[in-house]
Amino acid sequence: MTTMNVPLLDLSFQNTPLRQEITETISRVIQSNSFILGSEVQGLENRIAEYSGTKYAIGVSSGTDALLISLMALDIGPGDEVITTPFSFFATAGAIARLGAKPVFVDIDPITYNIDPGKIEEKITSKTRSILPVHLYGQCADSEPILDIAKKHKLKVIEDAAQSIGAQYRDGRKAGNLGDLGCFSFFPSKNLGCFGDGGMVVTNQTELNEKIRILRVHGSKPKYYHSLIGGNFRLDNLQAAVLNVKLGLLEDWNEQRRENVKMYHELFLESCLVKNKTVQLPAAVYADSGVKNYHTFNQFIIRVSKRDLLLEYLREKGIGCGIYYPVPFHLQRCFQSLGYKTGDFPEAEKAANETLALPVFPGLTKDQQVYIVEQIKYFLI
Ligand SMILES: Cc1ncc(COP(=O)(O)O)c(C=O)c1O
Repeated sequence: MTTMNVPLLDLSFQNTPLRQEITETISRVIQSNSFILGSEVQGLENRIAEYSGTKYAIGVSSGTDALLISLMALDIGPGDEVITTPFSFFATAGAIARLGAKPVFVDIDPITYNIDPGKIEEKITSKTRSILPVHLYGQCADSEPILDIAKKHKLKVIEDAAQSIGAQYRDGRKAGNLGDLGCFSFFPSKNLGCFGDGGMVVTNQTELNEKIRILRVHGSKPKYYHSLIGGNFRLDNLQAAVLNVKLGLLEDWNEQRRENVKMYHELFLESCLVKNKTVQLPAAVYADSGVKNYHTFNQFIIRVSKRDLLLEYLREKGIGCGIYYPVPFHLQRCFQSLGYKTGDFPEAEKAANETLALPVFPGLTKDQQVYIVEQIKYFLI
């Protein structure tokens, strides 16, 4: 088979057709001389709130800052504990620790890679203030039991929906509209990405909306009068302008990702790799089973025991693939002081050693997918 180059992510399929429209919008922003916050940000906030089904949306500087400002809005700090997953992008746990609070980890479900709600309650102490589930790879964490536990113990829920804008939980509610606060990232590789950094917090609570708006501008209202200590968490008008153009196509792109996943399922199921459990495909099955769980596949993750060798082989064959994430939080050096050790979260550890992300971006062709699956078969069989 001749070698084909398939990147893990190619943004040109999204950006090239929109180049003129985006350029015109950017020109309008330049002419307006309004660069920080501004009308594009306001417009985007209104549209994201409507899209997510929430009352409010607040544009912020990144997904990381969306998490940080959400925790700050709940006054979480030293002495507090926040329950979260050990298997996510660093920002999830980093935001908690940066405020002096303690991240308390709970192992993941081996099929969805999201926090296992059945293991949360045993970790609740008198210091627990919040649960911070991550909707990893584009699929909502099993939120109903999480929300029940939170209600029972009077805890706030912050959703890390950085990877899952547009995803739907099985009751039909959108990611971000499940807990008290929802956090999105517009990092370029996300399903809705800008041309730099950007993020958004969504909420239905008027008081939190107002507080986050104040925290976003160094805690000042009116300007130069500081009732709180906030930070510079502002989204800029240029990024919002780009996102306002791209938002209209988000649903199409999410559908294309799901079509690519269907194709992967067909191609993998034709081989014996799934049947004999050499490859585990992501749990996309509910998509067609009448349950409303809508996975938006920011990442398409397979599980294989010879992961590192396969990754090396695929890269040699021109196929982009990645590991999200190679080291769970509890084994990161910076969290040594938390006192965790290898074996504490076996599912997260296994996932870190066995999972591999394959290309799934909108614009990926059938030929490319056939090539990827053929190469995987060739290596594994
Ligand atoms: C799960 C998760 N949380 C938080 C973030 C942080 O978002 P950002 O890169 O926009 O700061 C990301 C983005 O990489 C993420 O994937």
